Amino acid sequence: MKKWTGGGLIIGLACILLVSYSFIQKQPRKQSSYEFFHPNEEIANLSGVSVVTKVEKLQKRPHLVKVNGLDYLFNSTYMPKEEEAKPLLAWGQMRLLLSRSDSLPETAQGIKEAALAWKELRSIISKNRALKFVRNKNERNCSYSVSGVNNSTLFSSNGSNILEIPCGLIHDSSITIIAIPDGKQDGFGIEFVGSEGKEEPNPPVILHYNVVLPGDNFTKDPVIAQNTWTYDFGWGKEERCPNHGSPNNAKVDGLVKCNEQLTRSAMDENSNSKHLSVNKSTNASDVNNHNHVGSNFPFMDGSLFTATIWAGEEGFHATVNGRHETSFAYREKLEPWLVSGVRVKGGLHIISALAKGLPVSENLDMAMDLEDLKAPLISNKSKRLVLLIGVFSSGNNFERRMALRRSWMKYEAVRSGVVAVRFFIGLHKNKQVNFELWKEAQAYQDVQLMPFVDYYSLLTLKTIAICIMGTKIFPAKYIMKTDDDAFVRVDEILISLKSKNPDGLLYGMVSLDSKPQRDKDNKWYISPEEWPHESYPPWAHGPGYVISRDIAKFIVRGHQERNLKVIFLQFSSLLMIY
Ligand SMILES: *[C@@H]1O[C@H](CO)[C@@H](O)[C@H](O)[C@H]1NC(C)=O
Ligand SMILES: *[C@@H]1O[C@H](CO)[C@@H](O)[C@H](O)[C@H]1NC(C)=O
Ligand SMILES: *[C@@H]1O[C@H](CO)[C@@H](O)[C@H](O)[C@H]1NC(C)=O
Ligand SMILES: *[C@@H]1O[C@H](CO)[C@@H](O)[C@H](O)[C@H]1NC(C)=O
Ligand SMILES: *[C@@H]1O[C@H](CO)[C@@H](O)[C@H](O)[C@H]1NC(C)=O
Ligand SMILES: *[C@@H]1O[C@H](CO)[C@@H](O)[C@H](O)[C@H]1NC(C)=O
Ligand SMILES: *[C@@H]1O[C@H](CO)[C@@H](O)[C@H](O)[C@H]1NC(C)=O
Ligand SMILES: *[C@@H]1O[C@H](CO)[C@@H](O)[C@H](O)[C@H]1NC(C)=O
Ligand SMILES: *[C@@H]1O[C@H](CO)[C@@H](O)[C@H](O)[C@H]1NC(C)=O
Repeated sequence: MKKWTGGGLIIGLACILLVSYSFIQKQPRKQSSYEFFHPNEEIANLSGVSVVTKVEKLQKRPHLVKVNGLDYLFNSTYMPKEEEAKPLLAWGQMRLLLSRSDSLPETAQGIKEAALAWKELRSIISKNRALKFVRNKNERNCSYSVSGVNNSTLFSSNGSNILEIPCGLIHDSSITIIAIPDGKQDGFGIEFVGSEGKEEPNPPVILHYNVVLPGDNFTKDPVIAQNTWTYDFGWGKEERCPNHGSPNNAKVDGLVKCNEQLTRSAMDENSNSKHLSVNKSTNASDVNNHNHVGSNFPFMDGSLFTATIWAGEEGFHATVNGRHETSFAYREKLEPWLVSGVRVKGGLHIISALAKGLPVSENLDMAMDLEDLKAPLISNKSKRLVLLIGVFSSGNNFERRMALRRSWMKYEAVRSGVVAVRFFIGLHKNKQVNFELWKEAQAYQDVQLMPFVDYYSLLTLKTIAICIMGTKIFPAKYIMKTDDDAFVRVDEILISLKSKNPDGLLYGMVSLDSKPQRDKDNKWYISPEEWPHESYPPWAHGPGYVISRDIAKFIVRGHQERNLKVIFLQFSSLLMIY
């Protein structure tokens, strides 16, 4: 995925630390979380923990519920032993968190699917172990590209054309189709589909890209319609281009959702149309500018086109014959890593199809620098550990993790064990990806798997997992969260932490007066039930923040005692002291 982490990506050498904010009353008039919830109380002692622990308890403590798959995920008979179990250290401590009655809505599905994935992974691991002594002829099947030049090979010819995507899509993966609309069915459709589950007979459609062409008799307006489909909820809200309603100015990765020229030409076309029975006054000037109806529409019957649909940070983008035409923001739980095939429907003669920029893992047999990159051992009693950095990553982001291992994870502080770095990764729905990930985890010893499938909406649980790791497994003085597309200046952070009070610290880019999104149509709508207040207390942006151990402990304890509530906030995870 990545993580279309809106909130503000930090790529390259940017230093993450912008604003420092702490609960300590150094800067007198910044509001602390405690003040936020107790506006009328006079605060006598604002130093660190005492403030946080005074916070009132949740009115109604959530209870523990039974969740399908949880028993399986936490059954110790299935846990690997000793060395091999290292990627599961944090996993083992997360059970309580996952069985809360008030957990995030997607948690149950994420757990159920994780149980299936874990079952498959265990079976591959044991099969592979049996083969180990016969010199493992590794099946490296995540490939950088797949193509269907020959329609009889990858594209089957009987109407259910599927180009298989072996290990999902990542940022910058693209699918290019060269084809000719054959005029037979008034258009065609390209669909990115997920994998079929045992309980979901039809795979979800992560992107439905449907092109309607005028047809022989010009009975239809040409239009591109995009949508998603899931077994549980059916079709989502369709997005059309050109859009005859109000122009949609929202952008995805900075690109327009619908090419303006397309919209404009569609308007002209309506006012000029000779084919439609609609009676509208015409303007001579417009007629002169556009003497060919639909000349701006990128697809035409009988004309060859090259369409590339690529995965950005925030959505899919389509470029047709070299021009950007449409963008479609990812929808919840329908993320690019889930794509397992491309399906083509309708009247289209395909010349070729090519998927590239697909995720590939390193060939561990060929890695020369494995020993230099492998995480140093950290004893759980280590007094040296100053900072634990938890990096959010997802299963098929193999390359990003390697880039981190070969760049900022080589800081002396990391190599010597003063700073520990661990990737927090949920299970993938593709068993090949999970197996590659498992091998990577064993080789580099820096991966923590999560007992749920990596849906974006479950990221908050990873935040808590990092706190668990930094307090119970590798007690560290400070705990930091970052993403796998950030460069962390470990040296700078260690220097600045030296001058900070080691208690009650929240350090990073802190928003001091943001407000909940109350527009019901907005993707990030927060209902008054979820968040009754008019604004949020200070919170830190996702790409990088540091908390001190006392706060991490408070968070972990709060979850064990079920006094803390989790809400999912726009592109970031927010732990609410409620
Ligand atoms: C404030 O709280 C801290 C920690 O609990 C304590 O050490 C300190 O004495 C308190 N200060 C005052 C003025 O109460
Ligand atoms: C764990 O799995 C074993 C073997 O399938 C089963 O006998 C046992 O009851 C399971 N334990 C729990 C706690 O579910
Ligand atoms: C994976 O690779 C192995 C060996 O190269 C091959 O036998 C197998 O069919 C491949 N699997 C897929 C799904 O392509
Ligand atoms: C296309 O497929 C046919 C049989 O399926 C094969 O004989 C031919 O060599 C293939 N052509 C290319 C270019 O791959
Ligand atoms: C694709 O398949 C169709 C029908 O199976 C066939 O007529 C056509 O020649 C094929 N095209 C290519 C490029 O192989
Ligand atoms: C298409 O062909 C494949 C095998 O060639 C078959 O399994 C599948 O059922 C067929 N689909 C349809 C819709 O006929
Ligand atoms: C198009 O027009 C022809 C003749 O007017 C008619 O026979 C045909 O059915 C029409 N096709 C469609 C799709 O309406
Ligand atoms: C065009 O539409 C208007 C109102 O919609 C109507 O008054 C007028 O008679 C129509 N003209 C023709 C030529 O149909
Ligand atoms: C035609 O052009 C005139 C001036 O150029 C403009 O005021 C009018 O709104 C236009 N009408 C249409 C239907 O576009």
